[in-house]
Amino acid sequence: MDRIKELVSQLTLEEKAGLTSGKDAWLTKAVERLGIVSVRVSDGPHGLRADDYSRPDHATMPAVCFPTASATAASFDKKMLYGLGEELGRECRAYGVDVLLGPGVNMKRSPLCGRNFEYFSEDPCLAGELGAAFVNGVQSQGVGTSLKHYFANSQETRRFTSSSELDERTAREIYLAAFETVVKKAQPWTIMASYNKINGTYSTANKFYIDEVLRREWGFEGVVVSDWCATHDRPGAIAAGTDLTMPAEDTDGKIVEAVKNGSLPEEALDACCERLLKLVEKAVKGRKQGAECDKKAAHLMAADFAANSLVLLKNDGILPLKKTDKVAFIGAFAKEPRVQGGGSSHIVETEITGALEAAEKEGISVTYAKAYDRNTGETTAELFAEAVEAARSAEKAVLFIGLPDSMESEGGDRPHMKLPEAHDRIVEAVCRENPNTVVVLHNGSPVEMPWIEAPRAVLESYLGGQAVGIAQVKILFGDVNPSGRLAESFPKKLEDNPSYLYYIGEGDKVTYNEGVFIGYRYYETKKQEVLFPFGYGLSYTEFEYSNLKVEKTGEHAYNVHVDVKNTGAVGGKEAVQLYVAPKKVKAIRPVRELKGFEKISLEPGETKTVSFSLSERAFAYRNADTHSWEIEDGGFGIEICKNAHEVIFRQEI
Ligand code: BGC
Repeated sequence: MDRIKELVSQLTLEEKAGLTSGKDAWLTKAVERLGIVSVRVSDGPHGLRADDYSRPDHATMPAVCFPTASATAASFDKKMLYGLGEELGRECRAYGVDVLLGPGVNMKRSPLCGRNFEYFSEDPCLAGELGAAFVNGVQSQGVGTSLKHYFANSQETRRFTSSSELDERTAREIYLAAFETVVKKAQPWTIMASYNKINGTYSTANKFYIDEVLRREWGFEGVVVSDWCATHDRPGAIAAGTDLTMPAEDTDGKIVEAVKNGSLPEEALDACCERLLKLVEKAVKGRKQGAECDKKAAHLMAADFAANSLVLLKNDGILPLKKTDKVAFIGAFAKEPRVQGGGSSHIVETEITGALEAAEKEGISVTYAKAYDRNTGETTAELFAEAVEAARSAEKAVLFIGLPDSMESEGGDRPHMKLPEAHDRIVEAVCRENPNTVVVLHNGSPVEMPWIEAPRAVLESYLGGQAVGIAQVKILFGDVNPSGRLAESFPKKLEDNPSYLYYIGEGDKVTYNEGVFIGYRYYETKKQEVLFPFGYGLSYTEFEYSNLKVEKTGEHAYNVHVDVKNTGAVGGKEAVQLYVAPKKVKAIRPVRELKGFEKISLEPGETKTVSFSLSERAFAYRNADTHSWEIEDGGFGIEICKNAHEVIFRQEI
């Protein structure tokens, strides 16, 4: 008998039941007589929200708030996500945390989801690859992760009760695919089952998706943990393969009873205990006495990550600004930026550097006007007049605007896609007063920009973490060349979004009627013009693509190579994107789908060859009749694109 099985055989039924729920909010139960210790988990995902157990009030310990997933996804940079994971792993070690509750790879079905800032993308390839890199980074430090929220949890409204109704193809191709990639490429220690139901069955009780798909098909070896209070039926959850219900709850007796009355096979409970004990073993092995982390260095790392993620949406040549320009910074977010969203992911930052402070530290002198109240987003006649005056008396105005905290938080969805009305008015007025205006946005999800023609440049900061101001100043004044690319489409207006008619659902049903046509898959296929497409972002330099080569390496396998040259005067980074474009046969498919991406750095005049490997799955769709991945023999285009809308090269295969 192996060690773990042996240990399980020594546990009483009550102890086994006890292991499957928390001791408190963040600890699993120990069984001291057998030397089984508690495992400590903490949120996640873009920083560490860990309670200080040495204080009676368990106050949250300050930790570095890195850019949120909405921002880091825009880096299109797997290496960066690995580095972020590594650093978070180090912090976990230093704070005594064994498992970080993240990353979140739920799909951005609608711009309105209140937790979009915690998620990567509308595209499963991007979310899956970045999620895998993040998990590998954290776990390289001997710390576990919890991939969440499994699955189809793309709205906050009625998240505890609603049923996400989706067909097999939509589930497999879109909503499960990122989870599948992360499991196969990174084997997260745990996966968190979401609050919602999937086609009528709660995720924590969904044997098909936990046991059949996750464990048997994908080979997941870790622990399935419920989202906090997401288990409704403890024996049912054990039978489905949800190993751990968090946090503490007084229902272990139900499991004991179910085993005793024969309604829950003891083997199912034993299997959960085995997986939990393996988790304990890994956690103990990863612990390091006296581990430390350097918060100052991590703050600067957060600035570099943000600088690699911010997306330049518009620039007619006004950027970069000169450090000698007479510049006004307008808007409360210049002083106190919005750096993260609300809810369980909320970090107590170690410090925050806004753009105003960052500019001062760089010796750049700027004037400042507040323009609006940071918390409400509202303005007053006086603040408005000051903003206009600041714009008038400067050569160039940089206007920092965005969504207030209350608009983006766990537990609620946004009612619309607009900025606060006052912010839109301030943009119009400032641009009228000073034609040399740059807008800097702070928002975790797309916003409508009715004023887009007015400013000369727009920089999207997302929720860029506690050092976002440093990144903004570096980009605005040309010390860093922007290289972020949108990880989601920006529709012109909410009504253009494919889930618009069905989002939030009716009663307790949320039907995913748009099927696989999420984000750019819809906009490109429908030829629906967007404000900015998926994958879009500008640079201060230019890249020239040449020499596309497609080599066949197997029946449905190809290697693709393309040369990219920096033809401009400054160094820069490019996110090279490969899409597969299926020709229509029988299955109705999106016109193109991202199947590979690489972020490269090029000095002026430098050329690099970027290579991709495509295997069968890159061409397949899920056939719901045969329940398998199939390739239709109608041919495909291999496309190297600037973004989801702009094709640079296409080769037919
Ligand atoms: C959230 C999870 C989080 C957990 C613990 C839940 O409400 O959905 O993402 O990890 O709380 O804080």
